[in-house]
Amino acid sequence: MHTPVLLKKSIQFLKIKKNGTYIDATFGCGGHSKKILKKLGSQGKLYVIDKDPESIKIAKKIKDSRIRIIQGSFSKIYKYCKKYKILRKINGIILDLGISSLQLNNYKRGFSFKKDGPLDMRMNQKKGIPASKWIMNATEKKISEVLKKYGEERYSKKIAFNITKYKKNKKIKRTQQLSKIIKKSLPYQKKHPSRRSFQAIRIYLNNELYELKKFLKNILKILKPKGRLCIISFHSLEDRIIKNFMFKNSRKIPNFPSSIPFTEKELIKLNKKKCKLKIYKKIFPKKKEILNNLRSRSAILRIAEFKKYK
Ligand SMILES: C[S@@+](CC[C@H](N)C(=O)[O-])C[C@H]1O[C@@H](n2cnc3c(N)ncnc32)[C@H](O)[C@@H]1O
Repeated sequence: MHTPVLLKKSIQFLKIKKNGTYIDATFGCGGHSKKILKKLGSQGKLYVIDKDPESIKIAKKIKDSRIRIIQGSFSKIYKYCKKYKILRKINGIILDLGISSLQLNNYKRGFSFKKDGPLDMRMNQKKGIPASKWIMNATEKKISEVLKKYGEERYSKKIAFNITKYKKNKKIKRTQQLSKIIKKSLPYQKKHPSRRSFQAIRIYLNNELYELKKFLKNILKILKPKGRLCIISFHSLEDRIIKNFMFKNSRKIPNFPSSIPFTEKELIKLNKKKCKLKIYKKIFPKKKEILNNLRSRSAILRIAEFKKYK
């Protein structure tokens, strides 16, 4: 099914308290959730979130009174915590970004550039539009922008040009159709030519960076003091957002222009107000994990502890 990435380290850094309340905001196939449940005592609680109905089906198979299942976006985490009256009661949250093997390996979901299937790429197929529809309606300029912004694709213009040319004669409905157009647009490279473009379209269609930013914006309002946040990301776009958020909220000395005079007392006061997170050293998977699970090769785990709210 799905081999969870950095499982041991992320659970270790969540520092599970027996009777604590935890959130797995990206349930997927439940790899992290099952480990959390093992460590929780009878009074502990685990809230799990996923926007994919297939993941929710898996979650519902876990018969355990300590688990609450929420189908929805993790960007709405504040709303969910309010609904369940657990604001400021959360001891730890885990976010394992991207798609699960369940999604990637099912050709019908259209995430894979290796298998042929309908070009869909939605995490929740009941919402939004499939990638095929988007690609047929988008302008050449828009396609190029998306590939560049979300895939950091050097050949975005050439790919967008060839997609637009192809669209004039034939509908793009399948993953392999798109993959072949991309392959023709790129010079030979070691890695799969469609890798970056498929990533870009997936991120754009599922609004992934917006989801992450909105989630982070709310996190400081729901964690308990000493509550832990563990985030596993898989590409630089996500990692940059997480890193900036954590650094901004853990900075010791506020960034004021030197021309603004402050007394030492005032600086200490401001410092205390600003510094909400304690951050830990980022963690990468070891060679052994990468050999066993190729998906982990680009993973980064960032950890932060919420200090106190004032
Ligand atoms: C990498 S998988 C998680 C795997 C999981 N940790 C495990 O061990 O099985 C990511 C999951 O997060 C879900 N997901 C991604 N973005 C989401 C969002 N904004 N809101 C809710 N779920 C999301 C995906 O549908 C997918 O099931």
